[in-house]
Amino acid sequence: MKRKRKSSNFLERVENHKKLRVSYFLIYLSILFTMAELQNLSLREAELRDAEQIQRNIFPNKTIEQIENRINSAHKRRIVAEYNNEIIGYAVLAFRTVPHAHTALLHSLFVKENFRNVGIGRAIVEYAERLALQNGIEILLLEAGAENKNAIPLYKKLGFEEYGLLKNGYKKDGNYKDLALMKKSLGK
Ligand SMILES: CC(C)(COP(=O)(O)OP(=O)(O)OC[C@H]1O[C@@H](n2cnc3c(N)ncnc32)[C@H](O)[C@@H]1OP(=O)(O)O)[C@@H](O)C(=O)NCCC(=O)NCCS
Repeated sequence: MKRKRKSSNFLERVENHKKLRVSYFLIYLSILFTMAELQNLSLREAELRDAEQIQRNIFPNKTIEQIENRINSAHKRRIVAEYNNEIIGYAVLAFRTVPHAHTALLHSLFVKENFRNVGIGRAIVEYAERLALQNGIEILLLEAGAENKNAIPLYKKLGFEEYGLLKNGYKKDGNYKDLALMKKSLGK
Protein backbone atom coordinates (compact mmCIF):
# COMPACT_ATOMS: atom_id res chain seq x y z
CA MET A 1 0.00 0.00 0.00
CA LYS A 2 2.77 2.36 1.11
CA ARG A 3 4.92 1.45 -1.90
CA LYS A 4 1.99 2.07 -4.26
CA ARG A 5 1.49 5.63 -2.90
CA LYS A 6 5.22 6.23 -3.24
CA SER A 7 5.27 5.20 -6.90
CA SER A 8 2.21 7.29 -7.71
CA ASN A 9 3.96 10.24 -6.02
CA PHE A 10 6.95 9.57 -8.19
CA LEU A 11 4.78 9.47 -11.34
CA GLU A 12 3.13 12.72 -10.26
CA ARG A 13 6.54 14.31 -9.83
CA VAL A 14 7.61 13.12 -13.31
CA GLU A 15 4.39 14.55 -14.74
CA ASN A 16 4.89 17.87 -12.92
CA HIS A 17 8.48 17.99 -14.10
CA LYS A 18 7.32 17.48 -17.70
CA LYS A 19 4.70 20.22 -17.30
CA LEU A 20 7.36 22.54 -15.86
CA ARG A 21 9.67 21.83 -18.81
CA VAL A 22 6.84 22.57 -21.26
CA SER A 23 6.11 25.88 -19.44
CA TYR A 24 9.80 26.88 -19.51
CA PHE A 25 9.88 26.06 -23.22
CA LEU A 26 6.76 28.20 -23.83
CA ILE A 27 8.26 31.11 -21.83
CA TYR A 28 11.48 30.75 -23.86
CA LEU A 29 9.49 30.77 -27.12
CA SER A 30 7.53 33.85 -26.04
CA ILE A 31 10.79 35.67 -25.14
CA LEU A 32 12.23 34.79 -28.58
CA PHE A 33 8.99 35.93 -30.23
CA THR A 34 9.02 39.22 -28.29
CA MET A 35 12.66 39.83 -29.23
CA ALA A 36 11.87 39.17 -32.90
CA GLU A 37 8.81 41.43 -32.75
CA LEU A 38 10.78 44.23 -31.09
CA GLN A 39 13.04 44.25 -34.18
CA ASN A 40 10.03 45.72 -35.99
CA LEU A 41 9.77 48.53 -33.48
CA SER A 42 11.12 51.85 -34.59
CA LEU A 43 11.84 54.85 -32.40
CA ARG A 44 12.01 58.33 -33.83
CA GLU A 45 10.98 61.89 -33.26
CA ALA A 46 7.35 62.79 -33.94
CA GLU A 47 6.43 64.50 -37.19
CA LEU A 48 3.31 66.50 -38.08
CA ARG A 49 1.90 63.55 -40.00
CA ASP A 50 1.79 61.58 -36.70
CA ALA A 51 -0.67 63.96 -35.03
CA GLU A 52 -3.77 61.96 -35.91
CA GLN A 53 -2.40 58.68 -34.56
CA ILE A 54 -1.00 60.34 -31.44
CA GLN A 55 -4.45 61.77 -30.82
CA ARG A 56 -6.11 58.38 -31.33
CA ASN A 57 -3.67 56.20 -29.38
CA ILE A 58 -2.08 58.46 -26.78
CA PHE A 59 -4.12 61.63 -26.08
CA PRO A 60 -7.77 60.99 -27.00
CA ASN A 61 -8.81 64.07 -24.97
CA LYS A 62 -6.76 66.51 -27.03
CA THR A 63 -7.53 67.86 -30.49
CA ILE A 64 -5.34 67.11 -33.49
CA GLU A 65 -4.60 70.83 -33.70
CA GLN A 66 -3.34 70.94 -30.11
CA ILE A 67 -1.09 67.99 -30.83
CA GLU A 68 0.22 69.58 -34.04
CA ASN A 69 1.09 72.74 -32.12
CA ARG A 70 2.98 70.67 -29.58
CA ILE A 71 4.93 68.83 -32.28
CA ASN A 72 6.06 72.24 -33.57
CA SER A 73 7.37 73.36 -30.18
CA ALA A 74 11.07 74.19 -30.38
CA HIS A 75 12.46 73.18 -26.99
CA LYS A 76 10.50 69.96 -26.58
CA ARG A 77 11.32 66.83 -28.58
CA ARG A 78 8.53 64.29 -28.92
CA ILE A 79 9.55 60.66 -29.19
CA VAL A 80 7.28 58.06 -30.74
CA ALA A 81 7.51 54.27 -30.85
CA GLU A 82 6.08 52.91 -34.06
CA TYR A 83 5.15 49.30 -34.73
CA ASN A 84 3.70 48.17 -38.06
CA ASN A 85 2.99 51.80 -38.99
CA GLU A 86 1.11 52.40 -35.76
CA ILE A 87 2.21 54.77 -33.00
CA ILE A 88 2.05 52.76 -29.80
CA GLY A 89 4.31 54.72 -27.46
CA TYR A 90 5.24 58.29 -26.72
CA ALA A 91 7.35 60.50 -24.49
CA VAL A 92 8.48 64.11 -24.35
CA LEU A 93 12.02 65.30 -23.75
CA ALA A 94 11.85 68.91 -22.59
CA PHE A 95 15.00 71.01 -22.71
CA ARG A 96 15.31 73.99 -20.41
CA THR A 97 15.35 77.41 -22.00
CA VAL A 98 17.55 79.06 -19.36
CA PRO A 99 21.23 79.54 -20.23
CA HIS A 100 23.89 77.13 -18.91
CA ALA A 101 21.36 74.38 -18.16
CA HIS A 102 22.58 70.84 -18.61
CA THR A 103 19.41 69.13 -17.40
CA ALA A 104 16.33 68.07 -19.33
CA LEU A 105 13.03 66.64 -18.17
CA LEU A 106 11.52 63.46 -19.55
CA HIS A 107 7.75 63.38 -19.20
CA SER A 108 4.48 62.02 -20.60
CA LEU A 109 5.83 58.51 -21.12
CA PHE A 110 2.98 56.35 -22.34
CA VAL A 111 2.70 52.91 -23.97
CA LYS A 112 -0.59 51.77 -25.48
CA GLU A 113 -2.14 49.28 -23.08
CA ASN A 114 -2.00 46.09 -25.16
CA PHE A 115 1.71 46.68 -25.92
CA ARG A 116 2.87 46.96 -22.32
CA ASN A 117 5.40 44.76 -20.51
CA VAL A 118 7.42 43.80 -23.57
CA GLY A 119 10.15 46.42 -23.28
CA ILE A 120 8.71 49.34 -25.26
CA GLY A 121 8.75 51.76 -22.29
CA ARG A 122 12.38 50.85 -21.69
CA ALA A 123 13.24 51.36 -25.39
CA ILE A 124 11.62 54.84 -25.38
CA VAL A 125 13.49 55.94 -22.23
CA GLU A 126 16.79 54.64 -23.65
CA TYR A 127 16.15 56.53 -26.89
CA ALA A 128 15.41 59.70 -24.87
CA GLU A 129 18.68 59.25 -22.98
CA ARG A 130 20.65 59.06 -26.25
CA LEU A 131 18.84 62.11 -27.63
CA ALA A 132 19.53 64.04 -24.43
CA LEU A 133 23.21 63.07 -24.45
CA GLN A 134 23.59 64.17 -28.10
CA ASN A 135 22.23 67.56 -27.04
CA GLY A 136 24.71 68.14 -24.25
CA ILE A 137 22.45 67.05 -21.41
CA GLU A 138 24.33 65.65 -18.42
CA ILE A 139 21.47 64.95 -16.01
CA LEU A 140 18.11 63.60 -17.08
CA LEU A 141 15.26 64.36 -14.68
CA LEU A 142 11.79 62.97 -14.38
CA GLU A 143 8.84 62.97 -12.04
CA ALA A 144 6.54 60.03 -11.43
CA GLY A 145 3.52 59.53 -9.23
CA ALA A 146 5.03 57.99 -6.08
CA GLU A 147 2.46 55.19 -6.30
CA ASN A 148 3.07 54.42 -9.98
CA LYS A 149 3.87 50.72 -9.77
CA ASN A 150 4.59 50.40 -13.49
CA ALA A 151 6.81 53.40 -14.07
CA ILE A 152 9.00 53.55 -10.95
CA PRO A 153 10.42 49.98 -11.26
CA LEU A 154 11.14 50.70 -14.94
CA TYR A 155 13.03 53.93 -14.14
CA LYS A 156 14.98 52.30 -11.30
CA LYS A 157 15.96 49.40 -13.58
CA LEU A 158 17.32 51.93 -16.05
CA GLY A 159 19.50 53.57 -13.39
CA PHE A 160 17.35 56.49 -12.27
CA GLU A 161 17.55 57.26 -8.57
CA GLU A 162 15.00 58.99 -6.42
CA TYR A 163 16.46 62.25 -5.08
CA GLY A 164 13.35 63.62 -3.43
CA LEU A 165 9.66 63.42 -2.87
CA LEU A 166 7.37 66.33 -3.59
CA LYS A 167 4.54 65.96 -1.11
CA ASN A 168 1.15 66.69 -2.71
CA GLY A 169 3.03 67.30 -5.96
CA TYR A 170 0.03 66.70 -8.19
CA LYS A 171 -3.72 66.60 -7.95
CA LYS A 172 -5.80 63.82 -9.47
CA ASP A 173 -9.59 63.96 -9.37
CA GLY A 174 -9.36 66.49 -6.54
CA ASN A 175 -6.96 64.35 -4.46
CA TYR A 176 -3.37 65.39 -3.77
CA LYS A 177 -0.70 62.80 -4.49
CA ASP A 178 3.07 62.70 -3.96
CA LEU A 179 5.57 62.92 -6.79
CA ALA A 180 8.80 60.94 -6.80
CA LEU A 181 11.61 63.12 -8.20
CA MET A 182 14.16 61.06 -10.10
CA LYS A 183 17.45 61.71 -11.87
CA LYS A 184 20.08 59.92 -13.88
CA SER A 185 23.57 61.12 -14.74
CA LEU A 186 24.24 60.49 -18.42
CA GLY A 187 27.56 59.41 -19.80
CA LYS A 188 29.73 60.31 -16.81
C1 LIG B 1 4.97 52.93 -17.34
C2 LIG B 1 4.86 52.35 -18.76
C3 LIG B 1 5.28 53.40 -19.76
C4 LIG B 1 5.82 51.12 -18.84
O1 LIG B 1 5.88 50.73 -20.20
P1 LIG B 1 6.15 49.22 -20.62
O2 LIG B 1 6.39 49.21 -22.08
O3 LIG B 1 5.08 48.35 -20.11
O4 LIG B 1 7.49 48.93 -19.80
P2 LIG B 1 8.58 47.83 -20.18
O5 LIG B 1 7.91 46.62 -20.74
O6 LIG B 1 9.64 48.47 -21.01
O7 LIG B 1 9.13 47.48 -18.75
C5 LIG B 1 10.48 47.59 -18.43
C6 LIG B 1 10.67 47.29 -16.95
O8 LIG B 1 9.77 48.05 -16.16
C7 LIG B 1 9.25 47.27 -15.08
N1 LIG B 1 7.80 47.19 -15.18
C8 LIG B 1 7.02 47.57 -16.22
N2 LIG B 1 5.72 47.34 -15.92
C9 LIG B 1 5.71 46.81 -14.67
C10 LIG B 1 4.70 46.35 -13.79
N3 LIG B 1 3.40 46.36 -14.16
N4 LIG B 1 5.04 45.89 -12.57
C11 LIG B 1 6.35 45.85 -12.19
N5 LIG B 1 7.36 46.24 -12.99
C12 LIG B 1 7.04 46.72 -14.19
C13 LIG B 1 9.83 45.91 -15.20
O9 LIG B 1 10.87 45.88 -14.26
C14 LIG B 1 10.39 45.85 -16.60
O10 LIG B 1 11.62 45.23 -16.59
P3 LIG B 1 11.79 43.77 -17.25
O11 LIG B 1 11.42 43.96 -18.69
O12 LIG B 1 13.22 43.48 -17.04
O13 LIG B 1 10.85 42.89 -16.52
C15 LIG B 1 3.42 51.84 -19.06
O14 LIG B 1 3.00 50.99 -18.03
C16 LIG B 1 2.40 52.98 -19.22
O15 LIG B 1 2.23 53.55 -20.31
N6 LIG B 1 1.69 53.29 -18.12
C17 LIG B 1 0.67 54.38 -18.13
C18 LIG B 1 1.31 55.75 -18.19
C19 LIG B 1 2.34 55.96 -17.11
O16 LIG B 1 2.15 55.61 -15.95
N7 LIG B 1 3.45 56.61 -17.53
C20 LIG B 1 4.55 56.94 -16.62
C21 LIG B 1 4.45 58.39 -16.26
S1 LIG B 1 5.71 58.81 -15.08
